[in-house]
Amino acid sequence: MKVTIVGAGNMGRAIGTRAVAGGHDVEIVDRDPAEAQGLAEELGDRATALERGSPFGGEVVVLAVYYPGNKDAVRDYTDRLAGKVVVDISNPVNTETWDRLATAPGTSSAEELQQLVPEGTQVVKAFNTTFAKTLVEREVAGQQLDVLLAGDDAEAKEKVSRLVSDGGLRPIDAGPLARAQELEHLGFLHVSLQQPLGLGFSSTIKLHP
Ligand SMILES: NC(=O)c1ccc[n+]([C@@H]2O[C@H](COP(=O)([O-])OP(=O)(O)OC[C@H]3O[C@@H](n4cnc5c(N)ncnc54)[C@H](OP(=O)(O)O)[C@@H]3O)[C@@H](O)[C@H]2O)c1
Repeated sequence: MKVTIVGAGNMGRAIGTRAVAGGHDVEIVDRDPAEAQGLAEELGDRATALERGSPFGGEVVVLAVYYPGNKDAVRDYTDRLAGKVVVDISNPVNTETWDRLATAPGTSSAEELQQLVPEGTQVVKAFNTTFAKTLVEREVAGQQLDVLLAGDDAEAKEKVSRLVSDGGLRPIDAGPLARAQELEHLGFLHVSLQQPLGLGFSSTIKLHP
């Protein structure tokens, strides 16, 4: 499949790496075309940089940008998202206090995005509990990474699960899009434990059988 990645930063690079490794084509969009071009070259032959304004070719669009900028991105690119599967990877941490999420109780970044995308476009929460460095390496301490995901549409979740498993990772369906609230809290907890435990964003959340 073809995957459009919005944001040529740490997570754009990490998810792009796994997508290309899984045999998928990737197109990169960034506010800075040079960043998009640089990442596309780094990812190799299966990757291209998309010129600003061009339609998105991917059936899956990964928003590898911060919250609440991901909402601005959805507003900016609305016409290019119709009918796509939109993947929200954000951990919407309150960056003034760093001690809680910025979203209101009872909702999540992913559910907010679902309200903003065109009708027929499905939002799937995924990749927010895995750090960029570990995604590039595919594993932590010899353990395959688990990628928790949530969404309301089975077909959309199946596409994202395929992207995850083709890239050598284990997808875990955590349930409907409302589960994004728990995933975002889990992601925040994982982030907040990095400094006290000296983990350096190299740890992973693993559900071991
Ligand atoms: N880093 C991790 O390990 C990790 C793990 C789990 C989840 N996440 C989540 O992943 C998301 C991205 O994190 P990151 O570390 O990859 O951030 P990052 O390195 O700062 O990359 C974000 C990139 O997206 C670009 N961008 C922002 N808005 C855009 C738009 N509207 N259109 C096109 N490009 C845009 C940024 O450009 P500018 O530089 O111009 O702003 C930047 O190049 C965040 O929501 C974060 O919570 C990160």
